[in-house]
Amino acid sequence: MLLFTDRELVQEGELKRLIMRGICRMFPLRSAPTFRIDNAVILCDVDLENFASAHQLRSALAVHRSAESPVVFLLRERNHHTESQARALGASDLLSGEEGINAALRQLMAKFPFLNAHQSCVPPETQRAIEDLLEPNTWNAAGNHGGLIDAGAQAVLDAIEAEGIQHWMNEVLSYDNLTYQHCLLVAGTAAAFGSSLGFSREDKVRLTTAGFAHDVGKAFIPLDILNKETALDAAEIANVRRHPMIGYAILKEHGVQNTDVLSSVRSHHELLDGSGYPAGLMGNSLPDLVKMVTICDVFSALVERRTYKQPATSEAAYDYLTDNEQWFDQALVRAFRRSILPT
Ligand SMILES: [Fe+2]
Ligand SMILES: [Fe+2]
Repeated sequence: MLLFTDRELVQEGELKRLIMRGICRMFPLRSAPTFRIDNAVILCDVDLENFASAHQLRSALAVHRSAESPVVFLLRERNHHTESQARALGASDLLSGEEGINAALRQLMAKFPFLNAHQSCVPPETQRAIEDLLEPNTWNAAGNHGGLIDAGAQAVLDAIEAEGIQHWMNEVLSYDNLTYQHCLLVAGTAAAFGSSLGFSREDKVRLTTAGFAHDVGKAFIPLDILNKETALDAAEIANVRRHPMIGYAILKEHGVQNTDVLSSVRSHHELLDGSGYPAGLMGNSLPDLVKMVTICDVFSALVERRTYKQPATSEAAYDYLTDNEQWFDQALVRAFRRSILPT
């Protein structure tokens, strides 16, 4: 499902659920893709009284509608005028939206049950774990949440071993929630890395868990900084750079004891030549598992879509790792290639 909107929608409730499961892709009208995306249903949540929005929506629909796709309009104010405008823009169905986007999405899923049939390759326990992982309330509540991360990571490893990293990457790269996407990609590439090296189950789980949890500290970095579409200023960079230490502290506080996992969370932005952060550690003081998570992290960030850059191909991302031998352990980088790229 594609959702076009001119509103600032908070990704929570049903909207968050559908985006995280890859069922819904949400596009602000001002940045609707100019290439056609195959889809089953188009949902429009747009202020039709706003001339500029109606015009942008017409352009977006000209690109994305197909003969088979229902085009559903959510009318927050349903009256004769908005109904006829929606029909003029090609609405095949109208939803009354007085109760907001989440209620409308539930109506839509009931109307088009085939949308629910989308089978995500991301296991449900991983989806649940990651939703909690990125939520500050999880960590503000007392309790031991180490088990949550472990269950989510084990399920990632099982999925990668069953279906392969390419399948995983293809699906996860289509997700819209970028932090969610990033954690899944780093966990998935870490699982593939450990598997291709013939690690024991215990070591594979440790590496996948480290990848899965590496950015957990971002739960406490303001979303308007994480999602900022322009360059960060010095204060914002300093703010983001707190996430490794925050992640380390909260995992420790919540009962995670594995030193490899804790070190990866704290040190995944350290670089071999000591130019990384937070501590400026040199390569010889970094365990291999941490260096492996760093490789998975950088590779994933490069192949992901960001508002400010095009996604790199896997080959180009790999070339970046080999071009910067002062930062990344090249023996591990070569081993990583075998796990990610076809020979
Ligand atoms: Fe990070
Ligand atoms: Fe990361």
